[in-house]
Amino acid sequence: MSEEFAAKIVDLHKTFPSQWGKGGVHAVQGVSMEIKPGEVYGLIGPNGSGKSTLMKALLGLVQPTSGQCYIYGKKSTSPESRVDVGFLPENPYFYKFLTGAETVAFYGKLCGLRGKELKEKVTELLNLVGLSDAADRRLGGYSKGMLQRIGLAQALVQKPRFLVLDEPTAGVDPLGARDIKDIIENLKESGMTVFLCSHLLEQVQEVCDRVGIIFKGILIAEGTVAELTRDAEKAQIVLEEASPELLKHLEEIVKEDGHAKWLELSHPQKSLESVFLKCLLDWKSKHQS
Ligand SMILES: Nc1ncnc2c1ncn2[C@@H]1O[C@H](COP(=O)(O)OP(=O)(O)O)[C@@H](O)[C@H]1O
Ligand SMILES: [Mg+2]
Repeated sequence: MSEEFAAKIVDLHKTFPSQWGKGGVHAVQGVSMEIKPGEVYGLIGPNGSGKSTLMKALLGLVQPTSGQCYIYGKKSTSPESRVDVGFLPENPYFYKFLTGAETVAFYGKLCGLRGKELKEKVTELLNLVGLSDAADRRLGGYSKGMLQRIGLAQALVQKPRFLVLDEPTAGVDPLGARDIKDIIENLKESGMTVFLCSHLLEQVQEVCDRVGIIFKGILIAEGTVAELTRDAEKAQIVLEEASPELLKHLEEIVKEDGHAKWLELSHPQKSLESVFLKCLLDWKSKHQS
């Protein structure tokens, strides 16, 4: 399979068996999606909607009940598919007694870095995630935001071209979250493909090229932020140099008018948050009535 897509998920189902052997939890129910190289794709959905399970299946960390996942054309079940992937898990576990620099160095060593190369990588990554000043402090004293940054540095240590971030801003204050968003934007500019999930809709709106909305393991909406937030029921015309009189007779005359320039015909945008809530409510009323 080609490298047309950084990630491809085909009709993925994951059911976790229940403790009592009956039914089970349908964490992911028939999701198909694709992530193009260079794209920042954001998966949004409430807690328990299947975001982490989907990401883990893509990374080969969870065995799908059915369906296939591919990274750069390689099946997620093969370890080769993970060569180019960096992953920030939902609740990363780090050794509290190591410093920031020691932690990144630890992961660097796991990836085969040594000596000068390792030292330079640690400095570069701590700088990138804004932790240079805290490099020699132990992680036990780090805030949640700082730990997420260390998690990001860890995910980047092996120079991935595809980054999977499970709730990168969970538990981080708004300022810290903004920094993480900026880091993601810089990574995107450097050509990185990013797949993240979040419940912080505003940040998703700002940083993602495309967004998928997942609910109860089903991808219920997908598109660019502009497509999803486009309010198709309303139209707006943006005019330059239009007089108040002209505005009054807008409908009849604007296209024939010689002075006013028709600059744009567009649709007012709704907030991603309102689209998200509407998708959820519509789905609920359709399926639970
Ligand atoms: N290892 C597991 N065993 C049993 N159920 C699980 C397991 N992992 C996740 N689940 C269940 O699958 C559903 C989706 O979970 P998850 O993918 O973590 O959602 P999200 O990341 O969107 O919060 C939840 O109902 C969760 O309880
Ligand atoms: Mg999760």
